[in-house]
Amino acid sequence: MNKPVIEVRNLSKTFVLHQQGGVRIEALSGIGFSVDRGECVALHGPSGAGKSTLLRTLYGNYLPTGGSVIVRCGGEETDITAADPRTVIRLRQSCISYVSQFLRVIPRVSALDLVTDPLIEAGEGEEAARSRAEELLARLNLPERLWHIAPATFSGGEQQRVNIARGFIRPSPILLLDEPTASLDGANRQVVIDLIREAREAGAAIVGIFHDDVAREAVADRTIPVQRP
Ligand SMILES: Nc1ncnc2c1ncn2[C@@H]1O[C@H](COP(=O)(O)OP(=O)(O)O)[C@@H](O)[C@H]1O
Ligand SMILES: [Mg+2]
Repeated sequence: MNKPVIEVRNLSKTFVLHQQGGVRIEALSGIGFSVDRGECVALHGPSGAGKSTLLRTLYGNYLPTGGSVIVRCGGEETDITAADPRTVIRLRQSCISYVSQFLRVIPRVSALDLVTDPLIEAGEGEEAARSRAEELLARLNLPERLWHIAPATFSGGEQQRVNIARGFIRPSPILLLDEPTASLDGANRQVVIDLIREAREAGAAIVGIFHDDVAREAVADRTIPVQRP
């Protein structure tokens, strides 16, 4: 029996707002679960419960106050909460894709280049990477006239589809999704559901936050309740 791809152990996170008199905000406490290869787990709970904080901690963005996140990938086992920055960057390039809630727009970088980048970073040739990016943007119904424009002026849903294409362009053993369908219409939501299912069938371990029940029920094997500590 293979060990889980992700193992979250007794995770806690308290934010300390140093600029605001040292106010402490307890965001996570005693979180533990694991995710196997080819499994999709949904984090579910009210707004402010700590779901995005948990996902960012899995991505190595936030250091937890306690606990660990074991990631198994490429024959290596790493506690991403204790890894040095180089290791975190390497893990992100080879193992972990993260679709944030909002696209981080980079001035003057076109939608197509934003989507192509992660695949080129992973060592794919430019032409093959570009045609894969075009394929994904077409599948997500992003009008071709927008492909060569920087997404700063795009609508929320258009930006989110660029973000999703960027997150799905290379096969990743670990996929972290923060409300990927939130600003999409029904047709595009279905495209994202299909992409998630395909990634799961290809063996990805997926942790997702889904604000709509339809998407959650369509993709999640299990739901983990997240509550304010
Ligand atoms: N960078 C941060 N600094 C301080 N507090 C934060 C930060 N990120 C999130 N929080 C707080 O942690 C709590 C959980 O937030 P979040 O993880 O975004 O919840 P959810 O995604 O479940 O809606 C909230 O009270 C939020 O204000
Ligand atoms: Mg959130």
